[in-house]
Amino acid sequence: MNKKIIFGSMLLGTSVCLFLLYLFGQTEANGSTSEFQEVDYVIGVSQPNLLEPWQVLMNEELKNEVAKHDNIRVIYTDAAQSTEQQIRDIQTLKDYGIDLLIVSIDNSSDLTPVISEMYKEIPVIVLGRGVTGYNYTLYIGSDYYFIGETAAKAAMNLLGNKGGSIVEIQGITSALQAEERTKGFQETLHKNPAYKISDVLVANWQKDYAEDQLKLLLEHRENPPDLIYAHNDAMALGAYRAIQSLGLKDIIIIGSDGVNKQNGGLQLVNEKKINTTFITPTGGKEAIQYAIEILEEKEVIPKKIILRNHEINEKNIKNYLNEKEVAASSQEGGDRSITLGFAQVGNESEFRAANTQSIIEAAKEADVELILKNADNDQVKQIEIIRDFIKQKVDVIAFSPKVEHGWEEVLREAKEAGIPVILSDREINVKDSSLWTSFIGSDFVEEGRRAARWLVTEEDSENVQIIELEGTRNSAPAEGRKQGFEEVLAENPNFKILESYQGDFTHAIGKKMMKKALVQYGKEIDVVYAHNDDMAIGAIEAIEEFGLQPGADIKIISIDATKKAFRALSTGKLNFSVECNPLLGPQIMKSAQDLVRGKEIPMKIITAERTFTQEEAGKEIKKRNY
Ligand code: AHR
Repeated sequence: MNKKIIFGSMLLGTSVCLFLLYLFGQTEANGSTSEFQEVDYVIGVSQPNLLEPWQVLMNEELKNEVAKHDNIRVIYTDAAQSTEQQIRDIQTLKDYGIDLLIVSIDNSSDLTPVISEMYKEIPVIVLGRGVTGYNYTLYIGSDYYFIGETAAKAAMNLLGNKGGSIVEIQGITSALQAEERTKGFQETLHKNPAYKISDVLVANWQKDYAEDQLKLLLEHRENPPDLIYAHNDAMALGAYRAIQSLGLKDIIIIGSDGVNKQNGGLQLVNEKKINTTFITPTGGKEAIQYAIEILEEKEVIPKKIILRNHEINEKNIKNYLNEKEVAASSQEGGDRSITLGFAQVGNESEFRAANTQSIIEAAKEADVELILKNADNDQVKQIEIIRDFIKQKVDVIAFSPKVEHGWEEVLREAKEAGIPVILSDREINVKDSSLWTSFIGSDFVEEGRRAARWLVTEEDSENVQIIELEGTRNSAPAEGRKQGFEEVLAENPNFKILESYQGDFTHAIGKKMMKKALVQYGKEIDVVYAHNDDMAIGAIEAIEEFGLQPGADIKIISIDATKKAFRALSTGKLNFSVECNPLLGPQIMKSAQDLVRGKEIPMKIITAERTFTQEEAGKEIKKRNY
């Protein structure tokens, strides 16, 4: 190859880089970096900053995973903590023709609208730091309210019952993850007046900033605080240095992120510079894996992947320092077939029938030995079934909890027996979240919001009277769907819930309750909000028997969006349906197998769901197979 061509291509290569530099501020590319090599996909990664060790680790994990795929090219940008620059970066990546955007953000209020716009045109993965709402393809990251809540519990443990005064050092106030951490931390602490937050500082995730601010605060304070909670380890190190420089002693420091690097959270705990931190996985590896699945249009892509955080303190630090050993030892499970015990809640609805079918089929598909028992909507029976699985020493237990409370005892028995538990479809309310390993299901609060958002845009009359048919009392879907619906109604005072009737997700009770409502309120009723399709269909029959026209005289909204609902939508008897996805089988089997192989699985996998008007149902009905 003669020199001219080599020189020409080098010149071209450099000018492309220079042009990219001009376009993006800080930028870089990896994966197949040769401009000439054809790649299937180009992915853009927009980082808010690369000042923080955690963001740097995220980029490293992204690059390590990208290096395994030579059919993709990735362009990285770094906005150096400027929101304006990040907005420019995202737009320029788009103009550059990327197929998918991975974005981590600091400023959720300014970036959310930008990401919503982007999502209208290309798939968007929000990584590590969230945006408000659901206008993106997939969110991968931690539950920051949960981190704040767990930090508060650690603070209360470390301070003891005598309590004490606390200084909180926040990241960037515009960042959703700082807001949620503060909410989780303060709401948990406020339950006990012995723990007082005396000061809140904002240090932009920066070590030096935290050090300066804390020094300033403590120099003018008579009594030093008993505990410092810093939203990341960099600021926790800053706090440690401030305390050192003032010669203060015995102040407890809690950080977050738990990066295993010099001055990372693990080292700081190991060197006793801070007391506690929380490993916060970056999700870099998962983001590239899911990006490829999304671009290859794999069918089941979840909406949210919530990664589990691990509390690190002097008691367990040694286990985490030797990551490699931990990783090696955890590969023991290997590829043997596994036994999964599934305690199904009942047979109350079309959703439930599809859910059970999905689990049975997926087990066959994955060659998992499934023991599926049905509790006929009886919690005592469901607990007995789980106890029986423990006796049978199954590898993994999964169940769809009838109600939110009353599971501590039997789950503690499963934990003591070393059997991990997957919550399917419905969450539970237990103080100790280590009693369950993973939740796979829907965001019921968001489902309730979606039902109400349609109603308030659809109806504009002065005074709209609603009958609510609730699902099983104290069950996660009933609680969530009520909360989400009322949250939106609270902003629209012309919508009133006349009465809420206690149903149980069945057709029969739905019909019975609607009859009662019609007797009581008759034509006053404008809308029926049913927590599931089966109760809505029952209500439709009652309304017809009462001599009114469902869908016209009385508008009807349901949740599940099963085929039955599609039929009612296409005949105009039902007006709107919010999807609740029952096809959880494949994800449950994958999670169960990963668990037995010793792989860390996400704390929560929230399914992606849609909504359907009468028109949309008309188009989709043929494709609906449940
Ligand atoms: O937990 C999900 C709910 O349970 C479904 O919406 C309902 O149909 C089922 O009873």
